[in-house]
Amino acid sequence: MIERTFVMIKPDAVVRGLIGEIISRIEKKGLKIVGMKMIHLSREEAEKLYSIHKDKPFFNDLINFITSAPVVVMAVEGESAVSVMRKMIGPTDSKEAPPGTIRGDFSCSKSMNIIHASDSLESANRELSIFFKEFLKYSRTDEKFVF
Ligand code: CMP
Repeated sequence: MIERTFVMIKPDAVVRGLIGEIISRIEKKGLKIVGMKMIHLSREEAEKLYSIHKDKPFFNDLINFITSAPVVVMAVEGESAVSVMRKMIGPTDSKEAPPGTIRGDFSCSKSMNIIHASDSLESANRELSIFFKEFLKYSRTDEKFVF
């Protein structure tokens, strides 16, 4: 099923100059970027995005980190986009993330872990609605080769 998911390149990746590398991996995988902007999250936006973690001990550190520098937010579309993106980024704790995954290749940290991608279609819809009102429509030339 064609799905749309929410992806965010986090401040640690932005300040390390990894935006292009990460976007390149998403494009080369065959996923279609149908919305993208670079923004500096307000505390309110960050708290809304991560509202499910508001009672966790790391919540304040997470909000401080995610508002410390700009992020790149994206709407990413494709076959099983939610699970495909989650496999590409690897597990939350980058120390456990296998080489070849985005977290596995660029981080050793659980908190500063480079990238976020929605964990379910329900989360994707909620997270996308915070940042995007509409999505771009176009065809990729390789779409006809995806089964
Ligand atoms: P993300 O996939 O964006 O979802 C929630 C984020 O909270 C997670 O990535 C990490 O950046 C952060 N996080 C999750 N667990 C911890 C933890 N135990 N300590 C610090 N940060 C965490």
